[in-house]
Amino acid sequence: MHLTIIAGARPNFVKIAPIIHAISHHNDQGAAKIDFCLVHTGQHYDEKMSGSFFKDLNIPLPDVNLNVGSHSHAEQTAKIMVAFEKHLMNQSTDCVLVVGDVNSTMACAIVAKKLGVKVVHVEGGLRSRDMRMPEEINRLLTDSITDYFFTTSALADTNLLNEGVTADRIFMVGNTMIDSLVNSLDKAVMPKVEHDIATAEYILLTLHRPSNVDDAHKLETLIETIDRIASGVKVLFPIHPRTASKLTNIERFDNIEFLSPLPYLEFLYLMKNAKAVVTDSGGIQEETTYLKVPCLTLRENTERPETIEIGSNQLIGNDLVALEKSLTAILSGNWKKGEVPPLWDGNASKRIVDHLAQLFN
Ligand code: UD1
Repeated sequence: MHLTIIAGARPNFVKIAPIIHAISHHNDQGAAKIDFCLVHTGQHYDEKMSGSFFKDLNIPLPDVNLNVGSHSHAEQTAKIMVAFEKHLMNQSTDCVLVVGDVNSTMACAIVAKKLGVKVVHVEGGLRSRDMRMPEEINRLLTDSITDYFFTTSALADTNLLNEGVTADRIFMVGNTMIDSLVNSLDKAVMPKVEHDIATAEYILLTLHRPSNVDDAHKLETLIETIDRIASGVKVLFPIHPRTASKLTNIERFDNIEFLSPLPYLEFLYLMKNAKAVVTDSGGIQEETTYLKVPCLTLRENTERPETIEIGSNQLIGNDLVALEKSLTAILSGNWKKGEVPPLWDGNASKRIVDHLAQLFN
């Protein structure tokens, strides 16, 4: 069979890496060969957001780079569609595999479906029910035209069933982002930072959601509050380019050490050893759950509720009083440990490849 694998943005690289390794393993076993073409849309394009992830996760260089870059949502989506359509019209493939919920996911799914190529969505079925999030729109549109779904939780299966998807198209396999984590844990690299992370406690902060960062005043209030609550415990903040573009005068935050976006293995080191993680990311809610590191999520909702119900995560929304209360509880050692959700065991990619081999051979 032949598979076209799409990756465009930072979290996509983490999700496709173990699938590519599982395909190599499958082919080494002498089973019917799976050929693939790796397409990088170029949504994320620089060394810090893209190149370093290919190196850290041992992903082969993309066969095709659509080089679309950063634009408005409509322009970015349109550029991906135009460029991917040109590629796919000249490529014979059995299916297009998309992961996650970024613009590249939706754009390539639409192109494939309109050219009559089957669409497989890894991480299908997640729902935040918040249509203000571009990712929720991407998830709904992608899933409405997906042929086969590989899901991370029973709740994702239920969401899809409730939307009319038949059970024979849904496969709960676990979480490929956790596969990358499991494969990389012993390779984590201590980053070079000013704070003495080998001996002193720290909080890890990430922020990039438009709802938190696009309004500069709101963003500053949030960071000022975290700076104040942390009092004495250093906050390490690898700053996403979208967030960096909104912040000026960062020297005034006494407890916060600002860092560039980090390579995967360095970020993993910081996450694994953090006293607490404060974030608005989707994937980090899952990774901290696996690591059993306390996580406070600065969002009003999550498409990953199992990280709260089973894992170490708590939703904080915009409530800075709740943030202070929960962070204080964590720093005084008073937090739920959480459990790891079913099938988040490092073998999701193998399950996906086994299913693909059955579905398309
Ligand atoms: C995108 C995804 C989001 C994901 C996030 C992870 C969508 C709708 N959003 O958001 O789901 O969680 O990636 O990072 O697809 N930039 C660089 N270098 C790069 C890439 C981007 O400097 O390599 C800057 C650009 O100035 C750009 C900004 O980052 O304007 C935002 O990038 P973009 O891909 O549009 O969205 P993200 O906010 O990263």
